[in-house]
Amino acid sequence: MTSHPEFNERTTGTEVASVFADQIRGKTILITGISPKGIGASTALAFASQSPALLILASRTKSKLEAVAEQIRTKFPSCHTNTRIELVSLDLSSQSSIRQAVTDITRLLIGGNKLDILINNAAINTTTRQTTPDDGLGLELTFGTNHIGTFLFTNLLLRNNLLSPPPPPPARIITVSSAGHRLSPMRFSDYNFSHPEKEVPAEEDYLKPLPGAFAKCTEDGYNGMVTYGQSKTANILFTLYLQKRLKGRRRGVGAYSLHPGTIETELGRDQDPEVKQEFHKIEAYWKSLDEGCATTMVAALDPALDETKGLYLVDCQISDPHPHAQDEVAAERLWKLSEEIVGEKFTLEDF
Ligand SMILES: NC(=O)c1ccc[n+]([C@@H]2O[C@H](COP(=O)([O-])OP(=O)(O)OC[C@H]3O[C@@H](n4cnc5c(N)ncnc54)[C@H](OP(=O)(O)O)[C@@H]3O)[C@@H](O)[C@H]2O)c1
Repeated sequence: MTSHPEFNERTTGTEVASVFADQIRGKTILITGISPKGIGASTALAFASQSPALLILASRTKSKLEAVAEQIRTKFPSCHTNTRIELVSLDLSSQSSIRQAVTDITRLLIGGNKLDILINNAAINTTTRQTTPDDGLGLELTFGTNHIGTFLFTNLLLRNNLLSPPPPPPARIITVSSAGHRLSPMRFSDYNFSHPEKEVPAEEDYLKPLPGAFAKCTEDGYNGMVTYGQSKTANILFTLYLQKRLKGRRRGVGAYSLHPGTIETELGRDQDPEVKQEFHKIEAYWKSLDEGCATTMVAALDPALDETKGLYLVDCQISDPHPHAQDEVAAERLWKLSEEIVGEKFTLEDF
C-alpha cells in the first residue's frame, strides 16, 4: 500500500511534492521528455516547487527545454538561488545522442554528486512506419525510442555509477508507461512489426479486436497504437527486471512504472482525428497536466513503496499491469534482446 491511500486521479503532482517535500529538498533529479505542453514539464514544475538542488532536464528540442526552464524560474523565483537547472540535449532514438547525453550528465554531476531520482518520461506515439536514424539496425522508431533508448540511457547512467548510493532513501528509477501496454505484449519474434501477421505466435499477438479506430493501419500494415502498446509493455518489463536485480542490493535502487492517466498533451500530435475520438469515448475523465504527473511523483517519492510489493501505479496507487507485463521470463528475454540490439551487456549484479 502507498502511504497516502486518499490520493487519487484528482491529486496533483504539486500536492504530492508538498507532502513529500523532505524527499525533494536538496536532491538531484533527472527527467527526460520535456516540453511546455507535456507531462515532463508538469513533473519538473512539481519537483521545482520543493527546492531540489539540481534539476536536469533532458530532451530533444532545445527551444522547448528552454521554455520549460523559463516557466520554472518564473513560477518559482526561489529556484534562482536554491535550484540549479541544467538542460541536456537527448534524442532517445539515436544511440550516439544517448551516449553524448550521458557524458554531458556525468560532467554536470561534479564533486561526486549522484542522481537521487531518474524519471524516464520521454516517449512517442507515431502513426506511420519510421525507423531509428543512426544505428544501422532499422529499428521500428517507437520501440527504438520508448524502450531501447530508455534501456541504453538508464544502463549507461548506472554503469557510470551516477545513481545515488545508500543511506536511505534509495535512488529511484521511474519509467512512465501507459494503460496502452494492454494493447500488445512483447512481440519477440517480430519487434519491428515487419513480418506477416500469420507468422506471429498467438501469445505475442496484439489485443483482438482492437477498440474501434485503434484498428486503423497504414497501407503498409503499420498500426501505431499497437507498436506503442508493445513499447509500453517493454517499459514495465524493463522496470520488472530492474526491480528484481536492484532492489535490496548494496546500492538499493528502487524501480517503478506507472500509467499517468489520460492527459491532453502533444503525444497524439500526428494522430488520426478518429483515433483521438476513440480516446474520448474510452476515457471519461481527462486529467490536468498537474494531475497527470501525480502518479509519477508518488512512484518517485513515497517511502512506503520500499516496504511493499508493487511494480506499477495508476491514479497514485499500486495497481496490476496486464499479466503479459508481469512475466519474469519475458523481462529476462527482453533484457537479453535489448543488449543484443545495443551491442553491449549490462550486468546489474555489481550495483
Ligand atoms: N498524455 C497521455 O494521456 C498519456 C497516457 C499514457 C501514458 N503517457 C506517457 O506519458 C509520457 C509523457 O508523454 P506526454 O503525454 O507528455 O507526451 P508529449 O507531450 O508528446 O511529451 C513527450 C516528450 O518526450 C519527448 N521526446 C519524444 N521523442 C523523444 C526522443 N527521441 N528523445 C528525447 N525526447 C523525446 C518530446 O519532445 P518533443 O516535444 O521535443 O518532441 C516530449 O517532450 C510518455 O511516456 C507517454 O507514453 C501519456
